[in-house]
Amino acid sequence: MAANGAEPWRVLVTRNFPEAGMSILREEPNLEVVIPDEPEASDAMPYDKMKAMLSEAPGYDALLCFLTDKIDPPLLDAAGSRLKTISTMSVGFNHMDVDAGKERGLTMGHTPDVLTNTVADFILGMTISTMRRIPAGVKVVKDDVWGKWAPLYMCGRDVHHATVGIMGLGRIGMAVAKRLMGFDCEILYSDAFRMDERAATVGATYVEFDDLLARSDIVIPLCPLTPETTGLFGADAFGKMKETAVLINCSRGEIVNQDALYDALTSGSIWAAGLDVTVPEPLPASDKLVALENCVIVPHMASATVACREDMARIAARNVVAAHRGEKLPHAVPG
Ligand code: DGY
Repeated sequence: MAANGAEPWRVLVTRNFPEAGMSILREEPNLEVVIPDEPEASDAMPYDKMKAMLSEAPGYDALLCFLTDKIDPPLLDAAGSRLKTISTMSVGFNHMDVDAGKERGLTMGHTPDVLTNTVADFILGMTISTMRRIPAGVKVVKDDVWGKWAPLYMCGRDVHHATVGIMGLGRIGMAVAKRLMGFDCEILYSDAFRMDERAATVGATYVEFDDLLARSDIVIPLCPLTPETTGLFGADAFGKMKETAVLINCSRGEIVNQDALYDALTSGSIWAAGLDVTVPEPLPASDKLVALENCVIVPHMASATVACREDMARIAARNVVAAHRGEKLPHAVPG
């Protein structure tokens, strides 16, 4: 019980997160933070455990979660009417049923902006790695099969002056386009909305999606995962891309149909792919895509810098604190 007699607000934090965020929660008066003990705290909280904890009396006012946590109607029902707010330490919120949260009167927060530049840097890294075959080069050295220099040994494709198609010119799309201007790329974009003025600042030209697929050397989906974008990159899309094209996906794995991608990569319908995100995550090493030399796969790490994750943790915590104080969440999920 606090000095003013008020019951403490209870926050369930589903796993360990950076001290930068944790200290914000701890310093907020009359906030009780519940987090699993080690070693469980190092891993994602299993769904059933999260549901059981949320349903236990006296309940929780807030849930601080991560993209590894599925937030669906049965879980919200288990939490009951005490739950007031959910804050995810991620920009993407496709793991949360936002409509179900709204129906129950919850406020919901996420962590946009702070990862824009970090993710955009990484997308450039993935683009260059895939186009220039850097992982394949590293592998031949490690495997001690470094071949003799030959005119076409380890040749990849140029990023400079390439035509790049960005599907979804949001914050990250803009930051990627801005970087690619420095590579003298031609930048095309497609989106649900045309935004000519904004696009012009990064030299991007609007085209229809099919046109983007047909003209681009590098295709980068940067759209949120929605029913409309689920499986957007399937056999049909790959069939419209150049045989020399590369797909770079750092958004959500579900945007790509991985069986169709495998077929496109093995049949030569597209040249290569770089994936930061897959279905499932982690992708087992036995997955057929992993064996492909022309598929560069990394473990969902586009926002993984210490500074970025600390910033995300601060925002996730501030969203909870704002809800506790009865204020508007500084970073509410849109819509
Ligand atoms: C997010 O925050 O949604 C990103 O995918 C994390 O890398």
